Amino acid sequence: MTEPGKVSMEKIVSLCQRRGFIFPSSEIYGGLSSCWDYGPLGVELKRNIKDAWWRAVVQERDDIVGLDAGILMHPQTWAASGHLEGFSDPLVECKNCHLRWRVDDLKDKNCPSCGGELTKPRLFNLMFKTFMGPVEEEANVVYLRPETAQGMFVNFQNVVNTTRKRIPFGITQIGKAFRNEITTGNFVFRSREFEQMEIEFFVKPGTDEEWFNYWLEERLNWYVNLGIKKEHLRLRQHTKGELAHYARVCYDIDYLFPMGWAELEGIANRGDFDLVQHVKYSGKSLDYFDDETKERFIPYIIEPSAGVDRSALAFLCDAYDEEPAEDEIRVLLHFHPSLAPIKVAVLPLSRREKLVEAAKQIYADLRQCWIVDYDDAQSIGRRYRRQDEIGTPFCITIDFQSLEDKQVTIRERDTMKQIRVPISELKAALAAKLSGEDLFVLPPGGQIWKE
Ligand code: GAP
Repeated sequence: MTEPGKVSMEKIVSLCQRRGFIFPSSEIYGGLSSCWDYGPLGVELKRNIKDAWWRAVVQERDDIVGLDAGILMHPQTWAASGHLEGFSDPLVECKNCHLRWRVDDLKDKNCPSCGGELTKPRLFNLMFKTFMGPVEEEANVVYLRPETAQGMFVNFQNVVNTTRKRIPFGITQIGKAFRNEITTGNFVFRSREFEQMEIEFFVKPGTDEEWFNYWLEERLNWYVNLGIKKEHLRLRQHTKGELAHYARVCYDIDYLFPMGWAELEGIANRGDFDLVQHVKYSGKSLDYFDDETKERFIPYIIEPSAGVDRSALAFLCDAYDEEPAEDEIRVLLHFHPSLAPIKVAVLPLSRREKLVEAAKQIYADLRQCWIVDYDDAQSIGRRYRRQDEIGTPFCITIDFQSLEDKQVTIRERDTMKQIRVPISELKAALAAKLSGEDLFVLPPGGQIWKE
């Protein structure tokens, strides 16, 4: 067994590239620094993470609604939000090789690359700029959003007016954000283009502390319920010096990544900072009228803000395992079934026509419900290993006996145990197992095959 928290980043990167989870961006041109492309399995993993978020915060609740705001927003948004002024890192430049460094990353007073003398620190804004329309001039500058949050603040009144949501309620969105990060590295942990899943939860001032504590617990539980080990998560409060300009209080949910503890998600009490700022800059009213108490106020905002890419990395690291199996090492990903990119693999024991025909029929049927793989290349043992390595929870084997008795075997990834079930019961049995039912709870006509 891989020791908890001890998988190396090299192993994760290698698995991701080898099996098609994540590739360097535009690799044929040598890659683009800190940008990544998600391959056929990575895109499924990300979709499953986002679906799990949406299910937990929109589908299963009645106090949060979704939104999909644009990446490009009115440039005044960023003046109001404080990002134009405050979203910057202090940088120094080497007078000799002209490389730039973040001041807080320096261990020495000279350039880490060539030893040259460094300039005094200057602030460097992390937002990507571009131009709207055909003329590239200052008046047409727009920014790629550095957080999805602002789209939800500027739509607060639209949501209140068009839904029947009353405070406390939240808005959530999932989408791309861009930051011209200076310190990058650690694979997808810090990228220049990434995806966020954020909730802006609007509450009455005075109830904010209670809601803040509520969200700390909810968000921790979300990761644990999706399979992350509790001991690999911790809460860490931001010190005064670390707090973002908008935050009154902030905690990070840290994960024990291969490079050590680092932020997976931030949960902030943003108070009324954002809405007050948008009122000031837009001249529009963003206050809220409470019909019950007849009070008018600007709500406070509690913000859980998670990264899809960091979550994907954490789920990969936590799922990774190696165990000895018949003179070799079995690499496997213990993904929670709802996160596994492929839920079921259909494996005919041979390529004989009759077997292939039966297997293809099962494959077509199961694909109506899930993302399913079909693999008939190489020995059955090798095929099992391939599926283990990408975290497929169940493999279905069709053998010659299946043609006679109309039964197939279901093999479970983690235990490698098998049951044999009638083909007519297969879909229902898989649905139950994928929802967490024990393998040995047998459907009608089923039997234990290999313990
Ligand atoms: N709206 C608040 C906000 O954006 P943040 O702590 O800067 O807060 C929230 O970002 C989350 O977004 C982080 O916890 C992380 O998961 C993700 N994130 C931020 N910067 C990132 C980057 N450069 N690469 C990947 N994920 C990033």
